Amino acid sequence: MRRCHYSGREPVPVQTEVKQAMPGKLKVGVLVSGGGTNLQAIMDHAADGRLDAEVAVVISNVETAYALERARQAGVNAVFLDHRAYPDRAAFDRVVVEKLREHEIGLVALAGYMRIFTDVFTDAFAGRIMNIHPSLIPAFCGKGMHGLHVHQAVLDYGAKVTGCTVHFVTREVDAGPIILQRAAPVLDDDTAEILSERVLEQEHEAYSDAIQLFAEARLRIEGRRVRVLPPREPH
Ligand code: GRF
Repeated sequence: MRRCHYSGREPVPVQTEVKQAMPGKLKVGVLVSGGGTNLQAIMDHAADGRLDAEVAVVISNVETAYALERARQAGVNAVFLDHRAYPDRAAFDRVVVEKLREHEIGLVALAGYMRIFTDVFTDAFAGRIMNIHPSLIPAFCGKGMHGLHVHQAVLDYGAKVTGCTVHFVTREVDAGPIILQRAAPVLDDDTAEILSERVLEQEHEAYSDAIQLFAEARLRIEGRRVRVLPPREPH
């Protein structure tokens, strides 16, 4: 099975209560490169009140990403930043960080963002970046494991259950502390496309659930584990 292991090279905070940085409604910045169905689910949940957060900006490094169009249609700031205009990854990341700060972002959600980032980005928003991956980490993740490759690898291996993982982003790819996971069955006649649709349904629930927990300041990182705290009593 394709596994991605935490190498142990990177220090993980021993115990960190992840707090919402700013008072008021949590402002989320979403980074995308593709179709944006996860973005759509987050925006829909924010609009119908299930999610107590606001998508304040959507940034893409791909001008034609349909996710940008989804943002525009929802009346959300949609920003295209062309990475080819910058000398290196760090320079591009500095511009992304600047743009997120401009919008007073309290949480960054990566939703199909196909760009390797530098420490400039992870350090600027440490403990405030989430990613969603379409497998049950640590299975079928890491280098080369994206899009339909993930689901094809699940089928080739013969796994009977797969799913999705929402995790905090650290310097190591797909290795940050896991916030929550949702499972989906693998059926005999599945193709990678069919399986990806089944997993996406779970992703659309999982991402908003994780963001809501963050908005309620109910996530505490303890080493590699993320503890979900009980709801706070109203004052
Ligand atoms: C999802 O499968 C997500 O897990 C992965 O990229 C895909 C993005 O899909 N990181 P969409 O653009 O949200 O439809």
